[in-house]
Amino acid sequence: MATGTLRDAFVDELRDSYDSEKQLIKALKKMAKAAKADELRSAFESHLEETQGQVERLEQVFGLLDEKVKGKHCDGIAGIIEEGSSVMEEDFDDATMNACLIASGQRAEHYEMAAYGTLVAWARALGLDDAADLLQQTLDEEKAADEKLSSLAEGGINEEAAGSGTDDDDDMSEDEPSARSKPAKVAAPRKTNGGPARAARARA
Ligand SMILES: [Fe+2]
Repeated sequence: MATGTLRDAFVDELRDSYDSEKQLIKALKKMAKAAKADELRSAFESHLEETQGQVERLEQVFGLLDEKVKGKHCDGIAGIIEEGSSVMEEDFDDATMNACLIASGQRAEHYEMAAYGTLVAWARALGLDDAADLLQQTLDEEKAADEKLSSLAEGGINEEAAGSGTDDDDDMSEDEPSARSKPAKVAAPRKTNGGPARAARARA
């Protein structure tokens, strides 16, 4: 007979989040270093500070439950961080890199918002109101961090990225010619997507 309860699942989720915050502390340091705009760098740095507080808050919740402070490897956030790291290795111009860092950061924030949303709801359902209040504070911080990233993206970073490397831009990067100025190339025959005839039509 199954013996696991919602309280067990709750503790398990807490351990998952504890590990995920620790992974994010390392990732946010790298993202702050990779940011090519002061405002974006300081957004990552201030969320890094908040994240350290979130780790402490989770320790408090473990204390309230009389549970050992322990993380459990979070594969979900590891995957999101891994994707973010490969983007950082790309040879993007500065503005595009900033837009990509925001995209990666927001994926992580949304993952955390989902996790804390569940944790708050479960804590309330279990009658653990003190724990719920602590977790709600973290959820609010994650939402604010997400909104901050949106406001940076929409407040100029995306537009700047969209303008970099186009013909309209005088300081267009030399090594990234636009499609229009590229020398015409003969399409190699393609075996998929309709074959060579379709590829040639697409080029015409
Ligand atoms: Fe967090």
